[in-house]
Amino acid sequence: MKKDDVLRLLRSSRSGYVSGAALGAAMGFSRTAVWKHIKTLEREGYAIEAVPSKGYRLTSSPDVIIAGEVKQGLGTKIIGKEILHYAEVASTNTLAMDLARKGAVDGTVVIAETQTGGKGRLGRTWSSPAGNLYVSVVLRPAVPISKSPLITLMGAVAVASGIRRQCGLPAGIKWPNDILLSGKKVSGLLTEMSAEPDRIRHIVLGIGVNVNMDSRALQPEVRRMSTTLAAAVEKPVDRTALLRTLLTELDLWYHRFLQNDAEVLAAWKELNVTLGHRVAVSGGSAKLEGLARGVDAEGRLILKLDDGTLRQVAAGDVTIMKGKT
Ligand code: BTN
Repeated sequence: MKKDDVLRLLRSSRSGYVSGAALGAAMGFSRTAVWKHIKTLEREGYAIEAVPSKGYRLTSSPDVIIAGEVKQGLGTKIIGKEILHYAEVASTNTLAMDLARKGAVDGTVVIAETQTGGKGRLGRTWSSPAGNLYVSVVLRPAVPISKSPLITLMGAVAVASGIRRQCGLPAGIKWPNDILLSGKKVSGLLTEMSAEPDRIRHIVLGIGVNVNMDSRALQPEVRRMSTTLAAAVEKPVDRTALLRTLLTELDLWYHRFLQNDAEVLAAWKELNVTLGHRVAVSGGSAKLEGLARGVDAEGRLILKLDDGTLRQVAAGDVTIMKGKT
């Protein structure tokens, strides 16, 4: 923790420089101890300049997420009360489900730099190279099970809003919860739940965001349909700041969901890029084509088929058919 304190002081220095003596005095340890912490930070990828008469100055930070840094200035009420960070896991969702079963508190966040068995929707895999965000959040909402699909929509609203706020990009939602930038996928969400017949035990909301990865790490067919935030803004994106914004939005939207879920649905409709378009839906029980008319109170897509009948679809993959309404 001392090392994190040194980092905090270096970051908050107005001139950029902090003398070894000042660091030691603020922390209550010797200049040798300060020097050791500086060396540890350097090994972790921080570049720290040492100028004899001025002291130390942080010149660059590594692109790794540090749980302590995410927590700094995070004013959330529920989300991120507990943050666990791993270099590599099989799947943050699997780990979070396991932790939830063992009693992890509402709002526990699990982050990994890479996943070896990342899970996507409809039984697919989620390719998880370094440079992106892989986050799972444990939620314990006291709501009926029928409301659980709205949690996924709530997550999509939070992620799209977070990307808009942090990167200034016009992120949109494709039903149910793909986040798109100019028609290409930049983020996906996977919700898993443990429930009793009449009660949700816990839900894990898993979020994968393509941030700074080298897209060549993706399979060509996935690569064609996806993008990264860095590609959209044409420079690397600060993942720690982005994560903090996403957790803040999630906290806000989770509260709104608990108080009045109609607000979530209204925001989802506002951000969606599906409704009003002719779409093909596959991957669920049957392949369907029709006009995406709306979303019902349980988050199902309402399709108007060509024979005029209305169908509610609970799961599937949507392809938006451009120019055909
Ligand atoms: C999708 O198919 O669009 C959903 C992708 C969800 C990926 C995230 S990454 C963090 C969390 N852990 C997983 O194994 N999956 C989710």
